[in-house]
Amino acid sequence: MAELRSRRSNLAVPGSNPRFLEKAKGLPADQVFLDLEDACAPLAKPGARKNIVAALNEGGWGDKIRTVRVNDWTTEWTFQDVIEVVGGAGANLDAIMLPKVQDAGQVQALDMLLTQIEKANGLEVGKIGIEAQIETAQGLINVNQIAFASPRIETIIYGPADFMASINMKSLVVGALHPDYPGDPFHYILMQILMAARARGVQAIDGPFLQVRDVPAFEEVAKRSAMLGFDGKWVLHPGQIDAANEIYAPSQEDYDHAELILDAYEWATSEAGGKKGSAMLGDEMIDEASRKMALVIAGKGRAAAMSRTSSFTPPED
Ligand code: GLV
Ligand code: MG
Repeated sequence: MAELRSRRSNLAVPGSNPRFLEKAKGLPADQVFLDLEDACAPLAKPGARKNIVAALNEGGWGDKIRTVRVNDWTTEWTFQDVIEVVGGAGANLDAIMLPKVQDAGQVQALDMLLTQIEKANGLEVGKIGIEAQIETAQGLINVNQIAFASPRIETIIYGPADFMASINMKSLVVGALHPDYPGDPFHYILMQILMAARARGVQAIDGPFLQVRDVPAFEEVAKRSAMLGFDGKWVLHPGQIDAANEIYAPSQEDYDHAELILDAYEWATSEAGGKKGSAMLGDEMIDEASRKMALVIAGKGRAAAMSRTSSFTPPED
């Protein structure tokens, strides 16, 4: 996971709104997704495709990951979304987000279409990644096959609003804990998505939180999926970006400690350090499993361009 690009915050931008598209370029989100799906009214979709192609080709996105969310395969729009956006701006686009993915076949269909469009436009085959949104009961029971359906898969994303509708959940507060339910109603779903993503070696992304003015509630929800291991979360409003960037990166203390474990363990296992498989770091015993855990934290910190504030000195003998 260490080499993956940071996706702590993924900003949703409706493709129908040129002002929002322009504004998004300057915001500090790791990723943007320009939306042709549920934030675009049907009558606005053809215009939104053109706005998105223009905004991508104009540039100015810095090093943000640029994704476009197309409509799902049950609509009449998907093929035209993909052809117009990738054909028009494929060179300036990183991935297509496919919503409401039901099974592996839907990912494979998008993969084949992308391959043809890449060939037809002189793009490298495989350039455009796929982000698969899981937001139905059927998508969740097929999530393992979906994760392995194409080498293009880069993320598996949880879509809580559509998911709650799909399973008839009795709440309209999307993604939040509910006072009538004693536990976390989303834990099972998040864990399934996380297992599929990790088994495949791709990123797991939490979806939107709709009460955009309530940043403390956003933080509470984000901390739950970050704690499980999720790599980032959607943000619907500029006010949620800083919170997501902080919550999905390790704390400075954890990052420093992870780098310290890596150095200390490398030293302990070396000739000079005595070829030890387990060693003490202060009061903590570290071994190969500690190194693996530390690599995860260090990887997330490095991807988020953190720098260490301490260094390792081999003990004097
Ligand atoms: C996002 O698309 C959601 O349905 O939550
Ligand atoms: Mg949705």
